[in-house]
Amino acid sequence: MSAAKQKLIVFDTTLRDGEQSPGVTLNTDEKIEIARQLSRLGVDVIEAGFPVASPGDFNAVQRIAREVGPLMEGRDGLEPMVICGLARSVKHDIQTAFDAVKDAPRHRIHVFLATSDIHLEFKLKITREQCKQRIAEMVGFAKALCSDIEFSPEDAGRSDPAFLCEALAVAIEAGATTLNIPDTVGYNTPQEYGALMAHLRANTRGADGVVFSTHCHNDLGLATANTLAGVSSGARQVEVTINGIGERAGNTALEEVVMNVHTHPDAYPVFHTINTRLFYSTSRMVEDLSGMAVQANKAIVGRNAFLHESGIHQDGVLKNKQTYEIIRPEDVGVTTGNLALGKHSGRHAFKTKLEELGYGGAALADAQFQAAFARFKQLADSKKTGVTDGDMHALVADVRSATRGASADPAAAAAAGEADDATPAGDAPVCRYTLKHMQVFTGVGVTPTAAVTLHDAQTGADVIDVAVAKNGPIEATYSAIQRIVGLPIELLSFNVSATSTGQETLGKVAVRIARGGPDGAAATPLAASGAEPKFAGVAADVDIITASASAYLSAVNRMVAHDAADSRAPHEQRNVEI
Ligand code: KIV
Ligand code: ZN
Repeated sequence: MSAAKQKLIVFDTTLRDGEQSPGVTLNTDEKIEIARQLSRLGVDVIEAGFPVASPGDFNAVQRIAREVGPLMEGRDGLEPMVICGLARSVKHDIQTAFDAVKDAPRHRIHVFLATSDIHLEFKLKITREQCKQRIAEMVGFAKALCSDIEFSPEDAGRSDPAFLCEALAVAIEAGATTLNIPDTVGYNTPQEYGALMAHLRANTRGADGVVFSTHCHNDLGLATANTLAGVSSGARQVEVTINGIGERAGNTALEEVVMNVHTHPDAYPVFHTINTRLFYSTSRMVEDLSGMAVQANKAIVGRNAFLHESGIHQDGVLKNKQTYEIIRPEDVGVTTGNLALGKHSGRHAFKTKLEELGYGGAALADAQFQAAFARFKQLADSKKTGVTDGDMHALVADVRSATRGASADPAAAAAAGEADDATPAGDAPVCRYTLKHMQVFTGVGVTPTAAVTLHDAQTGADVIDVAVAKNGPIEATYSAIQRIVGLPIELLSFNVSATSTGQETLGKVAVRIARGGPDGAAATPLAASGAEPKFAGVAADVDIITASASAYLSAVNRMVAHDAADSRAPHEQRNVEI
């Protein structure tokens, strides 16, 4: 590393811009779980949300500030992660963002206002002069609350560069310390975006004393290229999301930018401090919780990213991996060709394998580790070919899904002093229902029928119901569960994947549900508008109908726990959309 290189500040916005992906709504526990993982990954700044949007968003950002902000696990040589909240250029937004983040040891307010003529004229209906005045006033207001202020001229990519220089100079004068340059609609070419960054740095009064940042959307598939062009032109912060999730075609993928810098240390004037070995496990976590499946051929974290199918390639890789591999799979947490664990493997081997796969340290709470080990033993007993790395990732997702919320620190939650939007309070069990027995009858020329018995921890009773369905055994199983829990539920997404190859593979099922209409199928107006809370569940089993039932039940338990908490809390209202 040359002495002239500067550190690349990685600003992750998975929980804010990423959460704006169509259909993605994470609840507080899920956001905290992702935030913890991002802290372990070595992310420098996390945009934890848009606090004014709703009481639930405020609460999530505040809990991340309090519970994740101080964490130092996996951050040797780094400072605590900066917790950032987004605000429009409105005093109430800015005050609310500050109130949400202020308890983090390091915190930031991110204020934005559009600067392109099209946004000024049609959206904001203000002149360029009024735009500059508002920037001066609102950045100044934010600066009086907090020393670390980021300003974004929204739609910078289509703004007049000369006006942008004036607007940014105003923001600097009012106290902004980071200037983010969003290509909000993913319109720029890499040459254009790089030239814009260079122009702004060279022509904005006071530019030398602030950090410039990239924020690129992927509408033309150029987000990573544009971000790297920005870095080459002097940006020292990149705004990114895990798996590139985000509005429309998404944001820049964190793992892609970092692995470019990692793979070409001489091509960029920066170095990174991200623990790339956690990429695969982080990607799987975000995939499961967001319900946004990662395409198999996605760079770095796609399931095929390190598979060599053709004979010529396989032969080459066997002779020397570098013939067809530019990244060592293990550097991004992908293990290939490793021996599977078997039924004689003990706790120590199991723990070592988890660490190798990116689940070391406090990634799993003790109870989750014990549950995962018990599941592993059952599986190792039934699988002749051993438990593969893919099975292990699925086991972790399954155990986390079944226990989500149970591991939340009650003291910290109480200290937060707010009604959580998802964590149950009082004596409502986190996992009210467990699958005790299930018999499914299906085939060709028969009507699929499912008989399901759930144990209800609240009443102590076992409840059985039977359902038939014309669309297959999973529909019958879900109908029986719905009848037992007595809730109308809409299945929003259902994904099944194999955890490895061969006949002994596990089926991993990921579902998302929301409260349905009175008939249990049609979406409520709230669900259709995206305002109804959504709940994710993941499970893995050798039997995909069992996996489907367990994943569904895990999501149902989250919904039931949410309802129990909700009956004690005022109903969630979404105040603002960006
Ligand atoms: O894309 C965008 O312009 C944004 C801003 C709010 C920073 O996400
Ligand atoms: Zn954006």
